[in-house]
Amino acid sequence: MQGLQQAVDHARVGAQRVDDVNSRFYGRFPFPTTCMRFDYCADGAFDAMMLNQALGDWTHARIPRTADIWVAGCGTNQAIFVALRFPEARVIASDLSRESLDICDRAARQLGLSNLTLEQNSINRLAYHQRFDYVVCTGVIHHNAEPAGALAKLADALRPAGVLELMVYNRYHRVVPASFQSAVRILRQGAEPLDFDGELALARRLLEMPMEHALPSRLGTTLKEAPASSVADLLIQPVEFSYDVESLDALADACGLTILTPCMNTIDHGQGRLTWAIDFTDPELQRRYAALTDIHRWQLQPLLFLEHSPMLWFYLQRKDSSYVRQPERVIDESFLDQRFVQTNTIRKAYTRDREGRYAPARSFKYPSPPAEPALRTIWDAADGKRTMREIFGAHGISSAPVTVNRARILLTTPLAPHLSATTHA
Ligand SMILES: C[S@@+](CC[C@H](N)C(=O)[O-])C[C@H]1O[C@@H](n2cnc3c(N)ncnc32)[C@H](O)[C@@H]1O
Repeated sequence: MQGLQQAVDHARVGAQRVDDVNSRFYGRFPFPTTCMRFDYCADGAFDAMMLNQALGDWTHARIPRTADIWVAGCGTNQAIFVALRFPEARVIASDLSRESLDICDRAARQLGLSNLTLEQNSINRLAYHQRFDYVVCTGVIHHNAEPAGALAKLADALRPAGVLELMVYNRYHRVVPASFQSAVRILRQGAEPLDFDGELALARRLLEMPMEHALPSRLGTTLKEAPASSVADLLIQPVEFSYDVESLDALADACGLTILTPCMNTIDHGQGRLTWAIDFTDPELQRRYAALTDIHRWQLQPLLFLEHSPMLWFYLQRKDSSYVRQPERVIDESFLDQRFVQTNTIRKAYTRDREGRYAPARSFKYPSPPAEPALRTIWDAADGKRTMREIFGAHGISSAPVTVNRARILLTTPLAPHLSATTHA
């Protein structure tokens, strides 16, 4: 199934010109807005270890701490986060927008990052071949004229054992913004092409309308006060496609890629969408659900939860990877067979002062213990001697698939890095 083309204004944006339009759009509205704080771990190997665990690699070997990394379409600050997470890696970050790269460069200089190279370029024009162990591309290819062309470039840039972290729009999250974009586009007919400021002013006027049940009120009062780049990114995108799990899987397949597993991200985490697993209580539904492939199981999330389903944010690998893809259930089962110890590192931060400079701030112990009582019990019991299966059994914790999946994600992955594996069972 093809991705849904939500908002391409064919009259003014021909396919060849989309990169140019995006470069101007993100030049005018660099994304995201100013970052007030960059956190990183004192232990330079910590995040690589957690990334490997998220992939189900309990040996922590798949993505080396000295990886070659590409952040494709990095915007204003993603490259900084990646370079801080992987201090021993060589990070190349590219974007179409000079202005976004300049913002990133200023921060990188203030932080003294020596492992980051910034490049102004389009993914569509680059020709990296099997150069990177890890490629990060979030919120980018769905703004391109041909997302499949951009994705094929990312696939080609991966080493055979490499991993791509990809986020594209979830179709069910985009109904409201895409409708609003279309309404603005109709209302602005006759205006100067590529007059993004005029378009934004029109969008803001529309947001002011007190129309009960209509989109402006659904978008909420907060957006009225939001910075220009956030409003523009949501409401006046020149080009956007969106997907569901099946159409993303088809896109990936056409580009020589396979989806590995969901990637827990700050947005889903912040909104409490912590697992893709659905807790069917009906035994017949449970039995049928258990028999599905990962793609079909995940596809049920957007179909049943619509706008409350998770972001389409996944790890992928090349189809010719030397690593055999492990279904999510197999990763969860292997988690149960591991022994873990509690992690304990120091987290440091740079915070932005009034002059816009980043200065080192306080350090703190990291991570804090898990807040949920059942996770805390597992964490307390992790002694490096007993397997998770033994710990679950000893404490009467259910080993139902949804519970195990949730525990793995909320204890052993980059956003919830509470445990590190000690065995390679
Ligand atoms: C919504 S922002 C996402 C930024 C960043 N990836 C993040 O998640 O914070 C999209 C970015 O992709 C860039 N972009 C879009 N198409 C691109 C392309 N073909 N090549 C390089 N950058 C591109 C834009 O300039 C913009 O900075």
